[in-house]
Amino acid sequence: MGFEIRSMHIEDYDQVLALWKRSKGIGLSSADERESIQSFLRYNPNLCFVARNGELIIGTALCGFDGRRGYLYHLAVDEAFRCQGIGNALMQRSLDELHKIGGQKCHLLVYFENESAQSFYKQTGWVLRTDILVMSKDLGCGSEPGSC
Ligand SMILES: CC(C)(COP(=O)(O)OP(=O)(O)OC[C@H]1O[C@@H](n2cnc3c(N)ncnc32)[C@H](O)[C@@H]1OP(=O)(O)O)[C@@H](O)C(=O)NCCC(=O)NCCS
Repeated sequence: MGFEIRSMHIEDYDQVLALWKRSKGIGLSSADERESIQSFLRYNPNLCFVARNGELIIGTALCGFDGRRGYLYHLAVDEAFRCQGIGNALMQRSLDELHKIGGQKCHLLVYFENESAQSFYKQTGWVLRTDILVMSKDLGCGSEPGSC
């Protein structure tokens, strides 16, 4: 089945959110509300992509750059379209664009129980860090405990 990759626009939001909601392994929080995603896209132009099959959005990759490191979020491919290279292509597109603007390393967060995604990431060259823990601080803006 064919697919094309293009930059994500806020107009894609409804389809994108629906995809995230039906993708086990994607954690959603207030950071995924429309306004927050719009802000993320503004901060990170040309780092976030969707894969499309016709008018249907079948995959997403969000990448953020803070000027030092990149962070990959919400890599997801619709179940019906998995194992065709779409996840890898989306991820690689974000990483290529990150590299072009000076990013030399990218990090990502995966839930412990998401063994399938961990296998995918190992298969695609990501290295499991055993020397660091993720710590988070809620800045009182209403984010849920445990959300990423
Ligand atoms: C993880 C995910 C994005 C992979 O997308 P995909 O389009 O199926 O992956 P690809 O077809 O590009 O696979 C790329 C490579 O990884 C391998 N791979 C894919 N899924 C795998 C899995 N579950 N276990 C092991 N290897 C896997 C493929 O075989 C392929 O290897 P190859 O190049 O040697 O053939 C998809 O499974 C998904 O959306 N999962 C649910 C959401 C999720 O958990 N996202 C991660 C959040 S951190």
